[in-house]
Amino acid sequence: MRVVILGSGRGSNAEALCIAQQEGGLGRARIVAIFTDRPEAGILALGPRFDIDARYLDPAPFKTKLEGEGERRYLEAVAACAPDLVVLAGFMRVVKPGFLAAFAGKVINLHPSLLPSFPGLDGIGQAFRHGVKYTGCTVHHVTPEIDAGRIIDQTVVRIEEDDTLETLAAKIHAAEHRLLVGVVARLSQEYV
Ligand code: GAR
Repeated sequence: MRVVILGSGRGSNAEALCIAQQEGGLGRARIVAIFTDRPEAGILALGPRFDIDARYLDPAPFKTKLEGEGERRYLEAVAACAPDLVVLAGFMRVVKPGFLAAFAGKVINLHPSLLPSFPGLDGIGQAFRHGVKYTGCTVHHVTPEIDAGRIIDQTVVRIEEDDTLETLAAKIHAAEHRLLVGVVARLSQEYV
């Protein structure tokens, strides 16, 4: 199962996938490329480290969504990888129907809350400030509506009395790494 990862940040989830692959824990999945919309993103360092094609792709002209010329560049680059699965791992940009139609049913996203609670930006901070006792992370199919596609799996994280935003974020990130690796490995086993 050919996997393409899109990310915008430090890439700790992409790193977890790469490590799992290296250690034989990603089932039949094979990461074939990593693309980022930020030229300074830490995720790019995974390329040489894991011998995977990792590249910046210009998302212009829009700042928060992938549409127009930017969408076309991503569509062409991702299609050239012939992916069976496209993983949005911290890709902080709204993906539009044109891209989703090109990879129908194959695009999944990781979100740092128990959807449908706290969609959108800063899912961890939203949950912390709201004062919920349980939050977590979600992997779901991507649809044009933000963070609303069918849920594939979730992990619950309890917010303890002495948690700070930082300790909670660390717990959620650790849960995300395990959740995403598990989901990709499982999907790869279902893939024929
Ligand atoms: C993760 O916490 C992921 O859930 C979040 O970005 C972070 C990326 O971290 N995604 C979203 O908030 C999407 N709405 P990483 O770059 O270390 O993998």
